[in-house]
Amino acid sequence: MPNHKIQQMATNEDLLKKIIAHAKEYGFVFQSSEIYDGLSAVYDYAQNGAELKKNIRDYWWKAMVQMHENIVGIDSAIFMHPTVWKASGHVDAFNDPMIDNKDSKKRYRADVLVEDFLAKIEAKITKEVTKAQKRFGDSFDEKQFRETNPRVLANVKKMDDIKERLYPAMDNNDMDAIKALIEDLGIACPMSGSRNWTEVRQFNLMFNTQMGSTAEGATEIFLRPETAQGIFVNYLNVQKTGRMKIPFGIAQTGKAFRNEIVARQFIFRMREFEQMEMQFFVRPGEEMKWYEYWKEQRMQWHQSLGIPIEKFRFHDHDKLAHYANAAADIEFEFPMGFKELEGIHSRTDFDLGAHEEFSGKKLRYHDPELNESYVPYVVETSIGLDRMFLAVMSHAYNEEKLEGGNSRVVMKLPPKLAPYKVAVFPLTKKDGLPEKAREIMDGLKMDYMCFYEEKDTIGKRYRRHDAIGTPYCVTVDHQTLEDNTVTIRERDSMTQERVAIDKVSGIVAERLKS
Ligand code: GAP
Repeated sequence: MPNHKIQQMATNEDLLKKIIAHAKEYGFVFQSSEIYDGLSAVYDYAQNGAELKKNIRDYWWKAMVQMHENIVGIDSAIFMHPTVWKASGHVDAFNDPMIDNKDSKKRYRADVLVEDFLAKIEAKITKEVTKAQKRFGDSFDEKQFRETNPRVLANVKKMDDIKERLYPAMDNNDMDAIKALIEDLGIACPMSGSRNWTEVRQFNLMFNTQMGSTAEGATEIFLRPETAQGIFVNYLNVQKTGRMKIPFGIAQTGKAFRNEIVARQFIFRMREFEQMEMQFFVRPGEEMKWYEYWKEQRMQWHQSLGIPIEKFRFHDHDKLAHYANAAADIEFEFPMGFKELEGIHSRTDFDLGAHEEFSGKKLRYHDPELNESYVPYVVETSIGLDRMFLAVMSHAYNEEKLEGGNSRVVMKLPPKLAPYKVAVFPLTKKDGLPEKAREIMDGLKMDYMCFYEEKDTIGKRYRRHDAIGTPYCVTVDHQTLEDNTVTIRERDSMTQERVAIDKVSGIVAERLKS
């Protein structure tokens, strides 16, 4: 590997470490049960993190529910009848194949080891294309190059051969075939470099617990691994009580739980996390139109936050989940590279059909326009709130060199997501300045999350608010008492302006629109 690449990777790893440290130092995210050395892959959101997370959730809810007349929101229970998970396929099929390396004692998802191997081949192809692009300049025809270059073709064939073995093995739960593939490809443990592997075993990701007062009478129930099933089992109740007409959607946000084999990378892969999901119910045969529509809509939502377009990409699935006839991820360039942020799935009538079968209840919609009844098809959008939080944090985190040899860490959070919108500072703790500052704060706090601070120099107070992403700091000084003006300082440009107190709210409101 060329040196500059190692440098690049180290920098990216550093960035994740810095974000984790910053999240802790400035009250965004703490490890759960930290005083007991933590609980693996479980995290707590602290005072600023809880605000940021709530703002992301609200922004999603606004875009999905408030802005769509034909989408309503619900809040279903985490515990559900155990048969729900039998019907949905989670009891039988929500498994990951796991493999242990006998030397490093590290556990891996066997399919991920193979996927990582595929990604390396893909990277080789990309490198080849980039090299040729540079060589041929404007006359470069990428399509033709990919179709004719022998090295690219050989690598494509290699990838196809691997996929032809991996996907059927996964579909058929053929653990021996996955093990054989890992051995044939000579995949080594990334930790120890050893090829001393155990057998591949299936591992169900659902957490279970008991409901009921006596051991004998208790029922085994599951902590939901997705919020979607709460929507499916309520769909007809919502449709009838809300007099919804197809196409319509039901949205919800809430906790989901998965006993992830490899839980790592901070809040990217957690065992307890939050999803924001929307199921869109459509006429059978129209699902592909809506699938494309929601892919587009969701990408636009991400870009509406001002994060550059190059940070996102679609990844269309080759291997589909048991319930889908089309699926794509919106991937985001996290510090660890492009990874799934959101899934858009065309789930057909799989779930509703299965719930009809298992419950014995009809879940048909009577379409007044067609005058016929059918089980609707479903297009789902599903995003992890914690992953979105990490995406927002990692884009916002900036280290800046300032004039005079100083530096600052500034979280350039989209203002509408920032935990606090305004910080109000009296220049000193005397001469009636705190009272005036409190008065200004009281005038703003009904509309905005505000923070009052009088400790330390103004410079230090600015730095603290840069670090949590507060878009505006308002300073009250002696002139304020004379002419009712304050200094308003903008986070990103650090420019300061003297304005009348009654203009502050309007300035903040304007910024929050962007
Ligand atoms: N209802 C469909 C569903 O649950 P998924 O692709 O398994 O689909 C949807 O999950 C989203 O939930 C993912 O795109 C990701 O953002 C988030 N997610 C899944 N597992 C997660 C985990 N262990 N930790 C954090 N977020 C997770």
